[in-house]
Amino acid sequence: MNLRRSKMWADDAAAALLDRLHERPEMRMCLATGSTPLPMYGRLAQSPDAFAAAAVLLLDEFGDLPADEPASCDATLRRALIDHVRPADYRAIVTAHPGEPAAVDAWIDAGGLDLAVLGIGVNGHLGMNEPGAPADGRTARVDLAPTTMEGAQRYFEGRARPTWGVTVGLGDLLAAGEVWVLAAGESKADIVRRSTDGPVTTAVPASLLQRHPNVTWWLDR
Ligand code: F6R
Repeated sequence: MNLRRSKMWADDAAAALLDRLHERPEMRMCLATGSTPLPMYGRLAQSPDAFAAAAVLLLDEFGDLPADEPASCDATLRRALIDHVRPADYRAIVTAHPGEPAAVDAWIDAGGLDLAVLGIGVNGHLGMNEPGAPADGRTARVDLAPTTMEGAQRYFEGRARPTWGVTVGLGDLLAAGEVWVLAAGESKADIVRRSTDGPVTTAVPASLLQRHPNVTWWLDR
């Protein structure tokens, strides 16, 4: 496990991602939204050609949103990155389709994931894999934990109150060639410590990453 603490974590992570893309332009990656990766995506958006051969899978999406909801994970990732870099393939998640989890799994099975770029919830969730989610889980419709529903309110400003979503499962995140977790701010300090140094348990989904051979935690000071 690689712990990188820096004031410049977003620049450093963006530079590392550009290096990876340089080595392997057709890289297949799964990308989180939330607020933490946005500064990194802002840096990457300034390299519009880097993603020309890459394939990007959206990590998760909230259920029951209107199609034009600006705070959906899809709209957020498009605005921050996809619209600027236009990857060869971009796969969003359409939660209204009952067959969507199987279709997302098929996308993953078509070439695997070289890199998963994740944030972490204060309860240790990865994507929408809340405490107790199975370590070998695949893409699924899931209920959100109370802290996740509360946290989501800052994106929706009262327009929507999602209670569920569809997320890539822990099994596929743990099978990715490389996993990055981005975490910044005092509110994440305790869960980062528990995830990196505490017991490995599905009660703290991010602790399962201790079993992964190639994980980098990009942290602010
Ligand atoms: C978002 C996602 C979530 C967030 C996590 C942290 O796609 O999968 O797991 O990464 O809730 O959110 P922020 O970065 O807003 O603190």
